[in-house]
Amino acid sequence: REAGVVRQDDGSYLVGTYHEIEALLHDPRISSDRRKRAVPDETAVAGEGLSPAFIGLDDPEHHRLRSLAMRSFGPPHTPDRIAGMHDEITRIVKDLIGNFAGKERIDVVDDFAYPLPVTVICRLLGVPLEDEPQFRQWSDAIVAGIDPTPGEDPEERPRAAAEARKTMGLYLGDLADKRRSHPSDDMLSAFAGDSPDGQLTPLEIMTTSVLLLIAGHETTVNLITNGILTLLRHPDQLARLRGEPALMPRAVEELLRYEPPVQMLPQRTPLADIEVAGVTIPQGAPLILMLASGNRDPRRFHEPDRFDPTRGDNRHLGFGSGIHSCFGAPLARLEAQIALNELIQHLDDPRLVEDPPPYRRSPVLRGPRHLLVE
Ligand code: HEM
Repeated sequence: REAGVVRQDDGSYLVGTYHEIEALLHDPRISSDRRKRAVPDETAVAGEGLSPAFIGLDDPEHHRLRSLAMRSFGPPHTPDRIAGMHDEITRIVKDLIGNFAGKERIDVVDDFAYPLPVTVICRLLGVPLEDEPQFRQWSDAIVAGIDPTPGEDPEERPRAAAEARKTMGLYLGDLADKRRSHPSDDMLSAFAGDSPDGQLTPLEIMTTSVLLLIAGHETTVNLITNGILTLLRHPDQLARLRGEPALMPRAVEELLRYEPPVQMLPQRTPLADIEVAGVTIPQGAPLILMLASGNRDPRRFHEPDRFDPTRGDNRHLGFGSGIHSCFGAPLARLEAQIALNELIQHLDDPRLVEDPPPYRRSPVLRGPRHLLVE
C-alpha cells in the first residue's frame, strides 16, 4: 500500500502491486533466465547440474520448448484430454476418500491433497507411482534450492538441489528411452517419439519432464489444502458451496487469488534499466514479483482481504501471467474443483484440530505441511 516497489538491502527489488506486476510479466525486457543476472546469486548454482527448463528461459527458446511440451500435453492431452480426465480424477478422489473410513481424524495433506496430484501427474507423464518415495525426496530438495531464504550454509541447498535435479533428470530420461521402443499413451512416450514438428533433445526431455513432475507435485497440493482450510474458516461459504456445487469453479479462482500456492516469482531479471512506479530498477538486479500481494491490491480488487467465492472479474495472478503463465492451469483447476466438491460433500460437520496449522517453511510455496480435520 505504501510503495509498489521496494529495494532490499541485498540489492534485489520487490514489486507488490497488481498493475506493475502484470505489466512486468508482459514486458520483453524482463528475463526469466537467472544466468543473465549482473550479480550471480547462490540459487543460480541450482541450475548448473542440468541446463534450465523452459520456465527459466526466454523466448524464442522458451516458446520452442513450451510448444513442443504443450503438443505432448495436447491432443490427445490438452483441454480435451484434460476434460476427459474428469472421470479418472473423480475415481482417484473417491478412492482416497474411501480410505478415510474408520479414521477419527484425517490429515488433509497426507491422506488426500498430496496423493491426488501426484497420482495424476504420474499417470500423465508415465512415471511409476511406486517410485514416488524416491522422487518426492528429489522434488523436495529441488524446491528447497529455489527458496530465496538463506539457509545455514547458503551453498548447501542449491548444491543439493542441483544434484537432485540431475538425478531426477537421468531417471526420467531413462524412462523416456524405454518408451522409445515400447511407447504408451503418456507424455514421456510423446517426448521420445518422432514428430514432423521437431523434437525435444534427450537433455530437453530430462529438463522438461523434471519441471512437469515437480510442478505437478508441489503446487496443486497447496491449492487443495489452502482451499479446505479457507472453507473451514468460512463455514457460511462452505455450506453454500455444499448446496451449490456449480459455484466451485468460481470458488477455486477466488482461492487462487486469496491464498495462492505460488506466493512470489523469485527469479526475474531486467535486461535494461526499467522504471516501475517511479523507481529505477537497474539492469541485472534480481527482481521478485509478489503475486500474493498483487492479488490483495485494493486498487485492483474490491475488499481484497475478503474471501468471496462469487467475486466477478477475478483475473488473479495465481497462475502468473504472460508467456510463462501456468502450463498446467486447466489440470490444476479441474483437480481442485473435483477434490474440494467431493471432500466437502463427504465431511460431516468437519472441525480443524489446529488453527493455524503448521506451514511448509517456504516463502515461495504457501501451504500447510499437515492439516488435521476431525
Ligand atoms: C508456470 C502456478 C500447477 C506446470 C507457473 C507459474 C505459476 C504457476 C505462478 C508462472 C511461473 C513464472 O512465471 O515464472 C501454479 C499453481 C498450480 C500449478 C498455483 C496449482 C494450483 C501446475 C501443474 C503443472 C504446472 C499441475 C503441470 C502439469 C507449469 C509449467 C510452468 C508453470 C510447466 C512454466 C510455464 C512457462 O514457463 O511457460 N505455474 N501451477 N503447473 N506451471 Fe504451474
